[in-house]
Amino acid sequence: MNITLQVNGVPRAVDVDPRISLLDLLRERLGLIGAKKGCDHGQCGACTVLIDGRRANACLALAVAVDGSEITTVEGLADGERLHPLQEAFIEHDAFQCGYCTPGQLCSAAGMLGEPGPSAVTEDVLVDPDLTPSEIRERMSGNLCRCGAYVNIVSAIAEVAR
Ligand code: FES
Ligand code: FES
Repeated sequence: MNITLQVNGVPRAVDVDPRISLLDLLRERLGLIGAKKGCDHGQCGACTVLIDGRRANACLALAVAVDGSEITTVEGLADGERLHPLQEAFIEHDAFQCGYCTPGQLCSAAGMLGEPGPSAVTEDVLVDPDLTPSEIRERMSGNLCRCGAYVNIVSAIAEVAR
């Protein structure tokens, strides 16, 4: 099937097997290997990307199901000149060890900070002013870190949220 996606701002037209996942399309056809394949069945979050601005596990999305969507991977978070504030904060807070989970953590955090929280008044509120570390942990619970860098991941995200 022919599908067209906007990937990190670049239009991509591809002919795909209807069974291919978005993750395999990104990694094996488009050369974007930032999103990682940890479990390949929705349990680890290493493959997290943004689909039309919402975080999603790329291993669970069929490429044909996201035809016409805007996809942002970790490669697209920085603007080409400067790192994304979350990337800078992860470095500053030493929020990774092996780094395998990091692309997923970053994309998930980028999407999460745009989600209205329980105390957000309207959907226009981009960052919940009451985003506490425990709320961050809850919202990031779909992203596992085998190295156990959770404390520093949360502090990096909390700094950007503030
Ligand atoms: Fe997608 Fe683990 S590889 S959730
Ligand atoms: Fe190694 Fe998270 S830094 S899995």
